[in-house]
Amino acid sequence: MKAFITGANKGIGYGIAQALGRRGYELYIGARDEQRGQDAVSRLTGQGYAASFIKLDLADFDTIHAAAEAVTDLDLLINNAGIAGNIATDTSRLDMGKSPLAYTTADLRETIETNFLGTHEVIKSFLPALSEDARILNVTVPVTATFWQPLAYVTSKAAQNVMTIAFGREFEKSGSRRQIFGVMPGAVATDLNGTSVGDHGGMVKSTEDAAENIVGFLFDGKNHNGHIVQFDGKEVTSYEHDLFG
Ligand SMILES: NC(=O)c1ccc[n+]([C@@H]2O[C@H](COP(=O)([O-])OP(=O)(O)OC[C@H]3O[C@@H](n4cnc5c(N)ncnc54)[C@H](OP(=O)(O)O)[C@@H]3O)[C@@H](O)[C@H]2O)c1
Repeated sequence: MKAFITGANKGIGYGIAQALGRRGYELYIGARDEQRGQDAVSRLTGQGYAASFIKLDLADFDTIHAAAEAVTDLDLLINNAGIAGNIATDTSRLDMGKSPLAYTTADLRETIETNFLGTHEVIKSFLPALSEDARILNVTVPVTATFWQPLAYVTSKAAQNVMTIAFGREFEKSGSRRQIFGVMPGAVATDLNGTSVGDHGGMVKSTEDAAENIVGFLFDGKNHNGHIVQFDGKEVTSYEHDLFG
């Protein structure tokens, strides 16, 4: 059993690698930062898991194509890599209070190129490397919730979520046994948002707990194809429920 995880050198992606390692998967650590990627591989192999580093930068399609050609017969493709899209400030962390009007075109372009176009390119490029029963899992967030609107981040993830739903329908229509779905793990303490476990009234989880939650949806025996699943199992299957039922 083989799993390719993007952005697996730290944060939630590293947690997912550990969670899949515990389940016996051979791990491919797709990472942009090579040093952090090699360090993650050393830690994973030190824990007894089979792991190797493959360079992958969502903003550099040549690395995506080379990574896709380096692997075969993948059972799982986990699209986890992503950025917060707060590029114009001195910290690249997520700013939940930033006005939607404060984002520049450059912020939006870089975030959409990374989180949406990069992930789109990964999925299309990796299709030949996937087994017939492979599952693709995209790590994502709610995009129309009223409690936040970090514009670059949510618009890039909205595009990614719509792609997940569209590709899921296409897999089903074409009779493919493959599945694609998104998981929204809730708030997690990582560099992306700078929070600590237990912040926001206990809402913020550890990467280990979030990873177990995410990976759990791969092994719950349910078909989540084309859905965006929240940590508690609630699912988004369409963004126009109210219009079309
Ligand atoms: N933290 C949360 O509360 C939360 C909640 C829901 C969903 N998510 C999602 O979870 C995913 C992981 O985020 P995280 O919270 O674990 O943040 P993180 O600790 O900042 O990790 C982000 C990962 O993405 C990688 N990455 C960034 N840009 C990349 C690029 N251009 N090409 C390849 N890899 C790139 C980073 O690699 P480098 O070392 O190369 O920078 C790193 O491995 C993201 O998609 C995020 O949207 C996070």
